[in-house]
Amino acid sequence: MAGLPWNRLGGLFARYGRRVYPDWALAHLAGFLAPLPEGARVLDLGGGTGVLAEAVRAARPGLEVTVADAAAGMLARVPPGVEAVLARAEALPFPGGAFDAAVVGEALHHFADLEAALAELARVVRAGGRLWVYEFDPRPLAGRLLAFAERALGEPAGFLPPGALAARLTAAGFRVEVEARGFRYLAYGVLSRKASGRSSPSV
Ligand SMILES: C[S@@+](CC[C@H](N)C(=O)[O-])C[C@H]1O[C@@H](n2cnc3c(N)ncnc32)[C@H](O)[C@@H]1O
Repeated sequence: MAGLPWNRLGGLFARYGRRVYPDWALAHLAGFLAPLPEGARVLDLGGGTGVLAEAVRAARPGLEVTVADAAAGMLARVPPGVEAVLARAEALPFPGGAFDAAVVGEALHHFADLEAALAELARVVRAGGRLWVYEFDPRPLAGRLLAFAERALGEPAGFLPPGALAARLTAAGFRVEVEARGFRYLAYGVLSRKASGRSSPSV
């Protein structure tokens, strides 16, 4: 197969996508957003129909949220009040430092070029800005099955164990911590180094 037909999956994700996020992950997200000032800009990358964007707005109604995704059929379901931008994660149409924070929910492993996507995240998040990632560990049985199914469907299935993703995020300039529960995990932190190598304070 040539990958999942994202443009036809908008209805499914808009209806059931919330179920992918356990309550502990969304509670963690709310805490992660807490330091952001009112009006701060948050990017939901690979945000699909805006499931995570809605969770961001539920936790912090005063934040400005943008969903960027490569599938117009997913973006068509993004709720009113959230900006929807058709874009590939590997080449984002935003100026450097445009966002105070970025969230990426169950999407990183779908990106064709993780390295390029992480470089773009580090570019569009401002120095000292925050990153929150929700991913799946391919080592436990549930993760192995998920990776097998996605590969069979022609997806990149670029699942990484938490330590490996943390190392990639660190190399991209983020200072991250990991919280894992079963095959689900979060990697979150602060952009501590821009491409120039300059350090900056966190929010
Ligand atoms: C499993 S869905 C997750 C959507 C959303 N984050 C959620 O939690 O419901 C993965 C999303 O990644 C998007 N995607 C895949 N490859 C992409 C890329 N290279 N750039 C941007 N989005 C991409 C798909 O269109 C799809 O909407």
